[in-house]
Amino acid sequence: MLSEALTKALSEQVNAEYYSAYLYLGMSAYADREGYKGIANWFFIQAQEERAHAVHLYQHILERGASPVFTDIQAPPASFAGIKDVFEKVLAHERGVTARINKIASMAAEEKDHATYNFILWYVNEQVEEEKNAGEIISKINLMGNSPALLFHLDSELAARTFTDPFAGGSA
Ligand code: FEO
Repeated sequence: MLSEALTKALSEQVNAEYYSAYLYLGMSAYADREGYKGIANWFFIQAQEERAHAVHLYQHILERGASPVFTDIQAPPASFAGIKDVFEKVLAHERGVTARINKIASMAAEEKDHATYNFILWYVNEQVEEEKNAGEIISKINLMGNSPALLFHLDSELAARTFTDPFAGGSA
């Protein structure tokens, strides 16, 4: 059975993952409006992944005999100061998510809840990828000098992203 503290922390993380999905859907809409359809695609798929992260956490709470606590999902920002600004906000956001996930891992370890500790390690590893992906895109934008013409190369690259359910096949 999940402790009350971990139920609260994991429920808050369900909310945070849905907020991430909302944030990235908002960024997708911004990129679409600006004419960057490939970047819009990347964010749309990123939002799908975040919803999968939320549902997987929700399922863990239920599987451990607890009830998830649902709260309001905050509205995301509606406008940005350009594509570089968007990805810088992604990196800052994901660093915040990493801190939250690490806190849950520490709580699970302190409570000796080995099942939750093992469960949350998937998210610990995922955050390494999330920060790396955002950082690499920012590096590319910096190399392009944030030029709108060159950003279309990045747009073409990010148009190729497709959605794969991270938990298909029963992983994690
Ligand atoms: Fe659910 Fe962006 O990590």
